[in-house]
Amino acid sequence: MCGIVGYIGTKKASPILINGLIRLEYRGYDSAGISTVEKNGLSLMKDMGRVKNLYNLKGIDDLEGTIGIAHTRWATHGKPSKENSHPHMDNSKTFSVVHNGIIENYNELRKFLTDNGYTFYSQTDTEVIPNLIHYYYKKETNSDISRLLKAVQKACLDLIGSFALEILCCDFPDNMIVVRKDSPLVIGKGSDECYISSDIPAILSFTRDFYLLKDYEFVLLQRGSAKFYDKDLNEIDKETTTIEWDASSSEKNGYDDYMLKEIYEQPIAIRETIGSRINSNSKTEFDELNFTKEYLSSVNKIYFVACGTAMHAALVGKNLMEKLCRISSEVDIASEFRYRDPLVDKNSLCIFISQSGETADTIAALKLSKEKGAKTISISNVIGSSLTREADYSIYTHAGPEIAVASTKAYTSQVTLLSVLAIYFSEILELNSDLINKLKSELLELPKKIETTLTLADKIKDFAMQVYQEKDMFFLGRGIDEAVAKEAALKLKEISYIHAESYAAGELKHGAIALIENDVTVITVMTDSKLVEKTVSNIQEVATRGAKTLVVTNQDIDCNLFDKVIHIPEVHPYLAPIISVIPLQLFAYYISKEKGLDVDKPRNLAKSVTVE
Ligand code: F6R
Repeated sequence: MCGIVGYIGTKKASPILINGLIRLEYRGYDSAGISTVEKNGLSLMKDMGRVKNLYNLKGIDDLEGTIGIAHTRWATHGKPSKENSHPHMDNSKTFSVVHNGIIENYNELRKFLTDNGYTFYSQTDTEVIPNLIHYYYKKETNSDISRLLKAVQKACLDLIGSFALEILCCDFPDNMIVVRKDSPLVIGKGSDECYISSDIPAILSFTRDFYLLKDYEFVLLQRGSAKFYDKDLNEIDKETTTIEWDASSSEKNGYDDYMLKEIYEQPIAIRETIGSRINSNSKTEFDELNFTKEYLSSVNKIYFVACGTAMHAALVGKNLMEKLCRISSEVDIASEFRYRDPLVDKNSLCIFISQSGETADTIAALKLSKEKGAKTISISNVIGSSLTREADYSIYTHAGPEIAVASTKAYTSQVTLLSVLAIYFSEILELNSDLINKLKSELLELPKKIETTLTLADKIKDFAMQVYQEKDMFFLGRGIDEAVAKEAALKLKEISYIHAESYAAGELKHGAIALIENDVTVITVMTDSKLVEKTVSNIQEVATRGAKTLVVTNQDIDCNLFDKVIHIPEVHPYLAPIISVIPLQLFAYYISKEKGLDVDKPRNLAKSVTVE
């Protein structure tokens, strides 16, 4: 977590940096800070809380420097406070550093540095970095820029953990060094300037040409030039990658919040994700994959590994893979996968799903699967993200930048891509051809059906207004609908702070039904005709105990049995999660709004979880 941004060029840096921080605030908002190269040395301004506190600081407008670094924090080591805010400086104030990541051996390094006369003023792991650079810098005898490069390199080689760093040095006021290991960092190339950021959308309005860095690539930035060095400081060549995202896609475009905008972007996100992969008259295409019938027949198990919402998408993926391809599949929470000694081997296919492609647990799980000899596929929304660089094969959702912390369009795009993938495998395996043709034509109709679903917003808002003050809610579903119930409960929890539980509809009566009393809200997703009768009985069980019931369905049911029914368009049950979740995203959104909460930046959360 944490967001870092940097600028080196000819313009005044501080407004660019603050603008970048505002866009990166979704990565953490415990404190913010900035450091620029001024005529009289390195400036340092920081404060607790959101970026707006920083730009309200007296003197911030007086910063004239055209080189600077900035940081917005999600606290890990050390509570949110001004002292713990970044940038951090070394004792001699020669270096200013911002850091995203975690230094695992900071205690040892702190002791080493303390023994060597350094003093620490914060509780952060980061503060060791500028001081360690200074320690090596003192030992270098040459006076040119290689002194700085070597000191940074030596310090980085001592760090265990993850880091994306921007470093300023007052002795070399026209330079900046950046480097990353296991934490995201991109460099946007302008004509005579460079923009540095934790993610692409934050600087997309300045450039579409990006240098994507590998671990331990050191970059020396000067106005108008970027030199790249490998771990041993040998100079290397690097090409830029052009990102096709439209700059306006990372703006709110008239919506109150990013989340609402992203909910409404789902028809286009789904259309783009399907792209030219599905054609009704020909076989499904994945240019990125080259799987054969022989290979897929040899796969003994598919492991889907992900966190949070992406893990909920995986639950749908497992269902589809088993139903359409008859390949046994499992879903693992990435943070558990590594520690349960999974039975992954060379006949396993492991699929890792991550919107950001930077989730530390998911990346670690991928590395483990590769060590065990499995083939790996990454599904991500961010080109060149760390996960995609590690995987044997990378395929992308094309949802466009997702800025709101609560994932919406990324989730439905992930489920769409998993559906397309299951269809692709099934065609290679020559299975279920009639069903596959039906699903393909239904997939192509999905964007229209999502548009229709979005017109239900007012009805959903009405129901949200009736229940927004509640403390607990339950979400039920059977089969694939249970995966949607899980996602709906998570959405509600994270942005409205209402406690929500999801259950397989038939499981509630084995214990949790004891919690149902008068007026508790129970929301059920019901999209499979084969499961309707049983699910309706389960709703009756809670209704007779006083529950208020909302049903999201496309089935022909007796509406008098429920307090509210939201009718969504008909769709094959295997594809229903892509539609049925949308009313429940809106439901969570309207409740959060009514409670006056910050929908896009819920408390304690960060969009991209780069710590394990
Ligand atoms: C919830 C949400 C999170 C993410 C999870 C994984 O709305 O967004 O649960 O799904 O942190 O993130 P990615 O997909 O970036 O790996």
